[in-house]
This record gives sequence, structure tokens and C-alpha cells, in this order.
Amino acid sequence: MKLSSALSFSLLLATAQEAIAFTPSSSLATQKKTQKIPSFSISPLLASSSDVEESTDDRRGFLTKVLGGAAATGIVANGISVQGPSPYMPPVNSLNDKLIVITGGNTGLGLESAKRLATAGATIVLTSRSVEKGERAVQSVKDYVMEQTGQANDNIYTLPLDLCNLESVKSFPEKLKNSPAFQNRQSIDVLMNNAGVMAVPDLQITQDGYEKTFQSNHLGHFALTAGLEPLLNPNGSRVVNVSSMAHLIASKGLDMENLNGEKDYQPWNAYGLSKLENILFTKELQKRADEAGKKITAVALHPGAVRTDLPRYIVGEDKFVSMQDAQPSAADILKLLPAFYFTKSVDRGASTQIYLSAFQGGSEENVKGKFFFNMKDMKLNPAALDMEKAKDLWKVSEDMAGIKFNL
Ligand SMILES: NC(=O)c1ccc[n+]([C@@H]2O[C@H](COP(=O)([O-])OP(=O)(O)OC[C@H]3O[C@@H](n4cnc5c(N)ncnc54)[C@H](OP(=O)(O)O)[C@@H]3O)[C@@H](O)[C@H]2O)c1
Repeated sequence: MKLSSALSFSLLLATAQEAIAFTPSSSLATQKKTQKIPSFSISPLLASSSDVEESTDDRRGFLTKVLGGAAATGIVANGISVQGPSPYMPPVNSLNDKLIVITGGNTGLGLESAKRLATAGATIVLTSRSVEKGERAVQSVKDYVMEQTGQANDNIYTLPLDLCNLESVKSFPEKLKNSPAFQNRQSIDVLMNNAGVMAVPDLQITQDGYEKTFQSNHLGHFALTAGLEPLLNPNGSRVVNVSSMAHLIASKGLDMENLNGEKDYQPWNAYGLSKLENILFTKELQKRADEAGKKITAVALHPGAVRTDLPRYIVGEDKFVSMQDAQPSAADILKLLPAFYFTKSVDRGASTQIYLSAFQGGSEENVKGKFFFNMKDMKLNPAALDMEKAKDLWKVSEDMAGIKFNL
């Protein structure tokens, strides 16, 4: 196990705990309802109850067994609940006619999504800041499809995109239109706004003059969606926004005077706010698309606390890369066991965004403007349902990005 992964797990454990700490009881109740937790019987232990009442020692032994069994049951059941359902795999050939654009497709949840959606036959455009990383990702998607199906999917492409550079974002639609990916399909079926950074330690300002988390996670995707909206399939498309349960950190709602960290910058708050912005953007996009009579389904989701490299932003990307080859000791591995227990593997974590991008979740009416977790829709808290803030955020974002949505 590499030290970088080990660090990811520890930090993600903190994220998971933070998300749970901020989860209001209604959300947790919904979560419990949506996750199938198998029941474990302790009846084999109870079956011998008449025998064990004969002596104190036996009674103690019996209690130890029952309590131990109950604890083990709790640990296993909770572990299953954290893990969520088995990875969702769309059937082979079910997406042959779809073009799917995935931001941040070179690693983590984006790359895993590209692999499984490509296996189902979709044409994939995965964006990457680095051409080299993008090309490596394309090859790994192709290899995965071949491994899974024994057949090639050659329709996997990469295009450069830096969400922290509005020039790069605004020029993307033209690049896509001119790319070979667009020659066979003249419209986009799914835009998966997946790329993101988390808990950047210090206030960092992009070349466009905005706080890095705000621009990477919200503003860049907002501007990208505006640019790509005219290319969305008029017969039906989905915009899948990868948000997070961390939006609950911002349960007091958006402070329109501090969108850019001008008054105060706190790393986790900035992340929570950006993930709340993803949901408010989803809701306002849905409202406007419906009013304009366009067949767009916008949906947001939480993947779970997943063992990706997302926490690299906390320690700094350079340092994280330099730790890649370090080997942790046995003691380090022991310390990391709880982190494994509280986090999901990438294949499970990517399921919800894959499921939604494969046009699952019931009719479009069931999915429109909703927030999904573990492939089920979840109740949102009032801050995420505040349509006044959603409208304000939309207007401010158009001004900041210097773009106008055609909605
Ligand atoms: N992992 C979790 O536990 C978790 C939980 C809840 C929500 N999420 C959300 O899931 C999404 C994917 O995260 P992940 O866990 O897969 O993390 P990841 O492995 O770190 O992937 C993040 C991706 O975003 C890209 N990216 C970052 N800044 C960018 C920018 N300015 N322009 C373009 N691309 C940029 C990265 O590109 P580079 O490789 O070039 O940096 C990378 O491809 C994020 O939106 C995250 O908030 C994750």
C-alpha cells in the first residue's frame, strides 16, 4: 500500500466523519431507508439458552457470545451500510448511441465512470488538465473495455480542460465540435460535471481572480454547462453534477457576500459551500430547462466517502506526488484499518454517477432536480432547497464567468 493512498484513507475518514457529524437526522433516516442492510440472525446463539442458564460461568459465556455476536453484527452491518450496494454496471451495448463528456476523467471517480460507461458502448470524452494524463486515461479505459468484453471501443477521446481558466472553459465547446468524438454524434447525451478539489488549505486565487475551490467546483462547471448546453441532445440529455454530502457543512446556506472567500476563507467551509452550489445550480438549471421546454434532466449526487486521491489538495499536490513511492509500516497499516472500514472502494463509489449517466433512476420526472446517494434519491435540507439563493447564484455566476446561459 502506498503512503499516498494511506494518507487518502485517513483524510477521507475525517471527511466521512465530518459528513456524518453534519448530517441532520432526517437525512440519516432517509439514508437508512435507502440502503439495504441485510439482517444477521443471532438465533444460533440463543437456541442454546436453556443450557447456558445452568451456571454463572455459563451465563457469562452466553452473554459474551451474544454481545460479541451483536457487536460483530453491528460492525458488519455498518460496514455494509458504508460500502453501499454492489457496483452498478450498465449492460454491454446499452449505451452504444450515447456521447458522454466527463470532466476530471483522468483519475478517481471520473476515470472509473469512463471505464464502465465505455464498456456499455458509450463514446466518451474525458477531460484532463494534462494531455499526458488524459492520453494515459484513454488507454486504460480502452484496456478495461477489452478486458471486460473482449471487444474494442475505439470511441474514447480526451480533450484538455482547466476549470480554473475561463478561457480554457469557453474554448472547450469549439474543441469538442472539431474533435473526432463529435463527428459520429452531433450532440451530447450526458455531461458529467465531476472534476473537483477538496479543502485547499489556503486561500488561492485563480488567474481569473476567483477562489480556487469556488471556481474548480462550481463556476468552471457552470460556465462549461452554459457553453455546452446548445450541444445537448434535443431529444433528451442529462447533466450529472457530482456534489457531496459535505454540502451539509454549509447548512446555514450560501453567504452571497462571501462566495469567493472575500470575508473569510475556511478550507472545509469552502468545500461544503461549493458542493451546496452544485445542488443549487442543479435545481435552477432544471427549473429553467423545464420553463424553456428543453428535455434536459439535471441531477446531483453524493458518491459516498471514497478512497480516491481527492485529499491530495489538502497536503499540496507536489508533496502528495513525492509520497507516492513511500511504503507504510505494519503499524501504519493497522492505524489505517478504521479508514478502510469507513470508506468505499472506487468501484462502489462511482456507481451512482454511472447509474445516472446510464439514464437509470426511473422516469426523467423521478430524476429531475434530485439529489442521489447509493442510486436512490435523498431528502435535502432547507439550504439546498433555497430557490431564491439558487436564482441569485445563477445571476452572480453569469456575471463572474462573463457568460449568458441560453435558458
Ligand atoms: N472521493 C470522495 O470521497 C468524494 C466524496 C464526495 C464527493 N466527491 C466528489 O467527486 C468528484 C471527483 O473526485 P475524486 O474523488 O474522483 O477525486 P480525484 O481523484 O482527485 O479527481 C479529481 C479530478 O478533478 C480534476 N480537477 C481538479 N481541478 C481541476 C481543474 N481546475 N480543472 C479541471 N479538472 C480539475 C483532477 O485533475 P488532475 O488530475 O489534473 O488534478 C481529477 O481529474 C469531486 O467533485 C469530489 O468533490 C468525492
